[in-house]
Amino acid sequence: MEKSLDTGNFISIAHLTDTHLFAESDRLLVGIPTDASFQAVLAEVKQTLPNVDLLLLTGDLSQDSSIESYQRMRNTLNRHQIPTYCLAGNHDDLAVMQKHLPSEYVSLARSLNIGNWKIILLSSVVIQAVQGYLAKSELIWLEEQLNSEGDRPTLIAFHHPAVAIGSPWMDGICLTNQDQFWEICDRYPQIKVVINGHAHQDFDQIHQTVHNSVRCLVSPSTCVQFRPQTPTFQVDTLAPAFRHLRLYDDGSIQTEVHRLKSKQFSPDLQAISYSDD
Ligand SMILES: [Fe+2]
Repeated sequence: MEKSLDTGNFISIAHLTDTHLFAESDRLLVGIPTDASFQAVLAEVKQTLPNVDLLLLTGDLSQDSSIESYQRMRNTLNRHQIPTYCLAGNHDDLAVMQKHLPSEYVSLARSLNIGNWKIILLSSVVIQAVQGYLAKSELIWLEEQLNSEGDRPTLIAFHHPAVAIGSPWMDGICLTNQDQFWEICDRYPQIKVVINGHAHQDFDQIHQTVHNSVRCLVSPSTCVQFRPQTPTFQVDTLAPAFRHLRLYDDGSIQTEVHRLKSKQFSPDLQAISYSDD
């Protein structure tokens, strides 16, 4: 995607993740209607970022991998007419996604150039597993992409967090071959940002390798949130949210989380039995 740079010196991206849609549009996850909360977050994006360049959705798009959930997501995104790039999470079925999600506005492309930046979308999904892993083929492909673009500032996205985020239960199910991934990041200083979902919380930290310094971001879910810094799984009462990123031409970034102000989407703390992410 080529973007005219006449209108400013940054790319504006809204990161939405872990939408967990069901086949039925009114079904609840921990008391939250995931379809309605996704729609509300999208409306917030439209209102607060009328000039957003693209949406980035990093997995667990569906809770039940149903055809209907992907079709409804596609139809919703088509109505908003914002270019959207999606990748899969542990709850998704990539084959079903590939068949029912893409459209004029919704892409499963694995890399794109926009403005001065390159965006690379990787799969960290392990079939039938909750934790993540970047397969050797994925890491080879990543290096090919990095070698093909010189020093274009690069954002890498995948589902599972690339670093420990301080909750032992979550850190045990994030990316399990982090060392291999960071060894590559160490050799390509154009990598500026790594962004993930899966943890349903806001996390923002600089990861220092020997030769590189990379901003590690995890964003809240568009539905239920998980409490940070807890030894075991706990639901948080924070509202659904998205992350806004401004990617500047010089490789610097600005980012902040936007939460819905409405109390409409509060979790049902009595209904909690969540075992798989
Ligand atoms: Fe999730």
